[in-house]
Amino acid sequence: MANGLFITFEGPDGAGKTTQLRRLASFLTSRLKRPVVTTREPGGTRIGDAVRAILLDPAHAELCREAEMLLYAASRAQHVAERIRPALAAGAVVLCDRYVDASLAYQAYGLGIDPAVVVAVNRFATGGLLPHRTYLLDIDPSEGLRRVRARGGPGADRIEQKALAYHQRVREAFLRLAADDPQRIRVIDASRPEEEIAREIAADCWALCQRLLPEMGGAGDETGCGCGPGQG
Ligand code: TYD
Repeated sequence: MANGLFITFEGPDGAGKTTQLRRLASFLTSRLKRPVVTTREPGGTRIGDAVRAILLDPAHAELCREAEMLLYAASRAQHVAERIRPALAAGAVVLCDRYVDASLAYQAYGLGIDPAVVVAVNRFATGGLLPHRTYLLDIDPSEGLRRVRARGGPGADRIEQKALAYHQRVREAFLRLAADDPQRIRVIDASRPEEEIAREIAADCWALCQRLLPEMGGAGDETGCGCGPGQG
């Protein structure tokens, strides 16, 4: 059983997940005596980063949806085995930029793969490990993609290049997942100022730490790390 805390960030492209993940990491690092580990998917390991390069390369337009879903799951399996489980076992708070919900939103609802298949493959890939908390940074995809373009840097990746209708389906899927699992997934309105969003996430996460971390008077992880009802 894991002793640490597993927290993920999700949302349409350009919602500001990465910025908020870093802000929460520095908030927790300055207040907790536990290690705080930040990581991301696809990637997070040497093998995962190689898979990430295949997945996001705009030249790979012929990648079929089944292969795409399995590659995300392969990267995740390696990530869970090599980094996430060991960090949780060592008592760390693990903050991960995207996880299983992204495969449900982008590959199941976005590409039309049977969600039950995506759930089953990901349960196999992760051994059923799910987050204690997921922050869903919700944004209108047209605003999100505008932000991605405004960032500059390298051009849009293979996923960002897909049509707006695809990104709309992804957003709706995330909101549906949140409605189905309100205990775990918190919807955060990501159209607001960065500072305000960071405060909301920090307050929620602090309450979660108080509930789950024994040194803060919490009850420990009764669920075996996010394997509660309706998850997986
Ligand atoms: P993202 O976190 O947005 O990376 P960056 O901020 O560096 O662009 O993730 C890369 C893309 O991969 C993003 O468009 C979402 C997509 N994705 C999936 O389609 N399925 C998945 O399971 C994951 C983890 C990501």
